[in-house]
Amino acid sequence: MNNITVIVGSQWGDEGKGKITDYLTQTSDYVVRFHGGNNAGHTIMTNGKTYKLHLLPSGIISPSAISIIGNGVVIDPAVLINEIKQIKEQQNTNNLQLKISQRAHVIMPYHIDMDEGLEKSQGKLSAGSTKRGIAPVYADKCYRHGIRMGDLLSPQIFKEKLTRSYNFNTQIITKIFRLPFTSTIEEIYQQYLEYGKQLAEYITDTEIILHEAKIQNKNILFEGAQGMSLDLDHGMYPHGTSSNNVAGYFEVGSGLGLNKESRRIGIAKAYVSRVGNSPFVTELTDKAGDAIREKGHEYGTTTGRPRRVGWLDLVQLRQAVRTSGLSEITLTKVDILAGIEELKVCDAYQVGEKITHEMPDGLEELRIAQPIYKTLPGWKQLQANDITNYEALPYNLKSYIEYIESRINCPIKIISVGPERQQTIIRSL
Ligand code: GDP
Ligand code: IMO
Ligand code: MG
Repeated sequence: MNNITVIVGSQWGDEGKGKITDYLTQTSDYVVRFHGGNNAGHTIMTNGKTYKLHLLPSGIISPSAISIIGNGVVIDPAVLINEIKQIKEQQNTNNLQLKISQRAHVIMPYHIDMDEGLEKSQGKLSAGSTKRGIAPVYADKCYRHGIRMGDLLSPQIFKEKLTRSYNFNTQIITKIFRLPFTSTIEEIYQQYLEYGKQLAEYITDTEIILHEAKIQNKNILFEGAQGMSLDLDHGMYPHGTSSNNVAGYFEVGSGLGLNKESRRIGIAKAYVSRVGNSPFVTELTDKAGDAIREKGHEYGTTTGRPRRVGWLDLVQLRQAVRTSGLSEITLTKVDILAGIEELKVCDAYQVGEKITHEMPDGLEELRIAQPIYKTLPGWKQLQANDITNYEALPYNLKSYIEYIESRINCPIKIISVGPERQQTIIRSL
């Protein structure tokens, strides 16, 4: 068995990464988040409880796995403290197996205000940010005046770094964006020192922990956030997020150098959803789309915004397979499409005179691209005896799965037929 597994989103996020991470946590020793922040929202439903996690790895609800927030993640301490409190209550425990990288960058109050200003100033080119401070905190990291979790435990260094970062950001907020910003350096300093105290027991050198786990051949599961089309390099720039979401980033975002094969699972919905702004070639803006949105509860876990929905896009999935080197796909929410007579799957784009099977990079092409569909027959509502194993699934659902595989050259090994942990079919190939 491969003891390194990486889970990533293959579309625009919200594919069901949390659910599948939770499923695979059962056989994992470590579960690691390696990028993004609380722009993510991962839902897990198990044993009659629902968990909505934004920063904590989905392994946190397992009593045995150790959860790690890697250096590539950006952390809003107030959100994390609240999430820790909630999970302790839900799990009825005071002991969380949680480790936070001292190198992870901290989202500061002015990053959130900056996000507001940025979003307003970007007009048609905005991504529809979650306004959690993600772009500004990653920008500060690149400017090299960001603040890291370890700094919150080091009052003198923290003061030095905060002064530089505060002055820079608040000047932009008040003078460029002309927005008010009233918190003083001293208020923020005291507040964040306090956050540091509350989180101190978890902040450590997670690189070493992971290195030792590797030597002991432990099972390590990496939980991606967002999705390939939101990736800073490979997604629909600038309509994406500010971290890399492809699988290759897990080594950067955790500090675990591997030089060996890993199991790389791309999570894909049986249709597509998108919360935020960008071209969306297979978008359904009619009643069929509304029906999928309602049945699939397609409303953002983080912001509550209605998600745009559309038919499955194999041009997008092909790119996900390629850019993450996926070894397999997990197809989720096939239950939501049940009962629809005919399903469409987009196999290529018509861009002006040209037909392409690969994702165009230019916004101009993406804005005019039209889907070329293959129509496939749908399947009936799934009954208990349809979901006992892969072979028992309705014939048309298996045909849908096998058509996708044939067009993206990647096997679909896990099929999710409902939100609960046990509503998961492992296919032996
Ligand atoms: P993530 O961000 O990729 O972890 O996904 P989200 O949690 O934001 O959104 C996925 C939603 O779909 C959650 O509400 C899950 O509980 C739910 N879900 C996951 N897999 C399935 C499935 O196979 N069927 C159904 N009906 N719901 C699912
Ligand atoms: P999970 O992990 C869906 C989208 C936002 C916006 C763009 C940039 O739950 O799949 P940001 O706040 O990062 O600057 O927003 O990215 N976005 C997500 N969409 N699921 C997510 O996470 C997302 N994280 C960011 O809607 O379009
Ligand atoms: Mg989500």
